[in-house]
Amino acid sequence: MFSCKFGRLISGLCIPKAAPMCGMSPTGFSWSAVCQRRTLRLQRTQKNPEPCHLSLRQSSHATVDPDEVRRFQLLSSKWWDEQGEFAALHAMNDLRVPLIRDNLLNMHPKNHPGRPLSGLKILDVGCGGGLLTEPLGRLGASVLGIDPVEDSISTAQVHASYDPELRGRLRYQACTLEELSAEAEEAGRFDALVASEVVEHLADLETFAFCCNHMLKPGGSLFITTINKTNLSYALGIVVAEQLLRIVPNGTHDWEKFISPVELERLLESNGFSVQTVQGMLYNPLSGAWSWTNSTAINYALRAVKVRDDVQPEPTDGTEEEESHRTGTHS
Ligand SMILES: C[S@@+](CC[C@H](N)C(=O)[O-])C[C@H]1O[C@@H](n2cnc3c(N)ncnc32)[C@H](O)[C@@H]1O
Repeated sequence: MFSCKFGRLISGLCIPKAAPMCGMSPTGFSWSAVCQRRTLRLQRTQKNPEPCHLSLRQSSHATVDPDEVRRFQLLSSKWWDEQGEFAALHAMNDLRVPLIRDNLLNMHPKNHPGRPLSGLKILDVGCGGGLLTEPLGRLGASVLGIDPVEDSISTAQVHASYDPELRGRLRYQACTLEELSAEAEEAGRFDALVASEVVEHLADLETFAFCCNHMLKPGGSLFITTINKTNLSYALGIVVAEQLLRIVPNGTHDWEKFISPVELERLLESNGFSVQTVQGMLYNPLSGAWSWTNSTAINYALRAVKVRDDVQPEPTDGTEEEESHRTGTHS
């Protein structure tokens, strides 16, 4: 959840590989082309001095920071050690599972005793070993967990296989959100998307928010838990939690990638969401328990609802190539 390597910039995280073939829908809509246009637009707005690097980044891996993936790869066998590196994530279920359950029940009132989320489809993005995926499945939801780290997905699959109650309710797939987004049969099908302790590990939040919108049904719910970008989150989340108390492995978090609730809300609202609630969360390292708090200075949970379908190819914004296609002029 929490770590640091100061000074690492997102512009240095490109993967210099050819763009993949992905996302051509039966209607001819090219998802990868949209991703690439967004990436180009972003690099222009960020005045990136090396735009060619970004344009070479695989559009199906735009959110992936290779350093993060490597770090989680090394921990991929540790997910289910309740006293180990992910102990704080195990404990966080006491807050996040009821948060998701109660909000979904408010949105979809049903009467399924013992399986309150029956009939709902949830996408758990960055599911790791399935710590949150499994309890959501036990509540009756049909859950797809995705993560770019294949070994974490294997750990999740093996662990779930021990519980017959989960059979047929959980699916796992080793992929990124943008790859899944390119699969026409998965897009727009989910009642809820969960990204818990994930956004602080991503290389491209704009693409992430855009894909979240693409995966949800109209009115679908988005649940995010993450870490605020404050002095206090640096002091407690990185210095104390990682370097002094070792609650999470040293190097897990990069403060530069933390995001404030205001910034996250702005990003989501520009991608077709309406933010409903933001609640502070507090971890007590002595008791190992989480509680809700009014302060969002360190950790927080955000809930948003999809209010607009933004999944349309973007209008051209004036590049020479796009302009010539639009007007039919070629030099
Ligand atoms: C702190 S863990 C959280 C795991 C899980 N959500 C939980 O709370 O138990 C962060 C997870 O994000 C995953 N991750 C990293 N980059 C990602 C990306 N670009 N897309 C989706 N997941 C990613 C990591 O592999 C890791 O499993």
